[in-house]
Amino acid sequence: MTNQNLPGIAILPISEFVTHRSKLFAQMTENSVAFFSAASEVTRSNDTEFAFCQNKSFYYLTGFNEPDAMLMLIKQASSEQSILFSLPKDKKHEIWHGRRIGQEKACQHYQLDQCFTLDEQSELVPQYLNGIKQVYFAFDDENLSQHVFGYLAQVRASTRQGEKVPTQLIDVSPMIDELRLIKSTNEIELMRQVNTISGLAHQRAMQITSAGLFEYQIENEILHEFTHHGARYAAYATIVAGGDNANILHYTDNSARLVNNDLLLIDAGGELSGYAADITRTFPVNGKFTEPQKALYQLVLNAKVAVISAIKPGTTFAKLNNIANEYLTRGLLDLGILSGDLTELVKEKASKKYFIHGLGHWLGLDVHDVGDYHINDNKEQCREFTPGMVLTIEPGLYMPLDDMDIAEQWRGIGIRIEDNIVVTKQGCENLTANCPETITDIETLMKR
Ligand code: GLY
Ligand code: MN
Ligand code: MN
Repeated sequence: MTNQNLPGIAILPISEFVTHRSKLFAQMTENSVAFFSAASEVTRSNDTEFAFCQNKSFYYLTGFNEPDAMLMLIKQASSEQSILFSLPKDKKHEIWHGRRIGQEKACQHYQLDQCFTLDEQSELVPQYLNGIKQVYFAFDDENLSQHVFGYLAQVRASTRQGEKVPTQLIDVSPMIDELRLIKSTNEIELMRQVNTISGLAHQRAMQITSAGLFEYQIENEILHEFTHHGARYAAYATIVAGGDNANILHYTDNSARLVNNDLLLIDAGGELSGYAADITRTFPVNGKFTEPQKALYQLVLNAKVAVISAIKPGTTFAKLNNIANEYLTRGLLDLGILSGDLTELVKEKASKKYFIHGLGHWLGLDVHDVGDYHINDNKEQCREFTPGMVLTIEPGLYMPLDDMDIAEQWRGIGIRIEDNIVVTKQGCENLTANCPETITDIETLMKR
């Protein structure tokens, strides 16, 4: 499947990462240092590793994609310095395991002030820390924390020679998370592209699906479409869940055969230059919705459309949850799945019996991206949306096969529809524009 709509795969220019560092420098106090750690490779078994995935905050500040590196930002009254420590060039290692950029080229390419090998950390970092007041690092990074405390101990051991030890440690995560939450024009364009690619993958899945195939065979078609358009990896483990498997929210076995008259739920998004898409579609295995499937599907779709049309600066997840609850509760009452008084049911959020997860989440370098959802740690008070935030909207209804409280016709149906939305000055833009969602569009695409 070729794509006429993708002019060329976007990657972020290095200047974007320099800008990210400038934004962080602007928030650091004078006479301070910030540390960021790259990820390490993770063993799959014996001497084989999982595909490498960079630490996303480290990547946000550097664009550098080798393991085990460390970034050190130094802010002083008259200067800002970005220093990278990374693995050295090593001919033998590179022949076996792959190229390393080395320090000289890294400095030029990533527009860093200085680059050193990892081995040089233990000598140089304590020297840089001498006279520094504050040290920023991610408190939840155990490995980095150990290193930082080790460096501080080294400086402390030299105080009799006049060395001055930093006295304040600050968790850098809230600062970096807030920066990552608001996406730039370049980041949004990248997310637009990865959504287009992921939408094409969902289209391919709809066209290829038929009874008798295994879920993992559909997964493979999706991955094929991602890579065909330049998204080398899936942003998260792809969910291909036929029939009742859709009622397992994070079903990734993908090992069952697809059954005629069942629905198929696919939650799949590609990753492009580190940025994620997170899209869910649910469609009939044989291309034609049954009447009960149609009724529930249309209800979820209506809720999703109503929620998205309310997204603009100033809206909150709390307001969107109210809209989703009202739509779903009214619909479930109309279908006879809920019974009682509408106002009472809405008040007690009765739809949550069948809509068992959150309505959405931030999206960016991580699929469940960083950034606070609430104001000042007050769990009751949702923050207002501002332009540049990207979020998912993913209402669903789940009716497990073994739920004897519901009529038989609904059992074994699990539906989720998930789009990716960017908040704009005027309102919002739906990045998931090319992925079919109406019953007519899906049935037309699947006609055979
Ligand atoms: N794919 C995970 C989620 O939708 O949150
Ligand atoms: Mn999601
Ligand atoms: Mn998802």
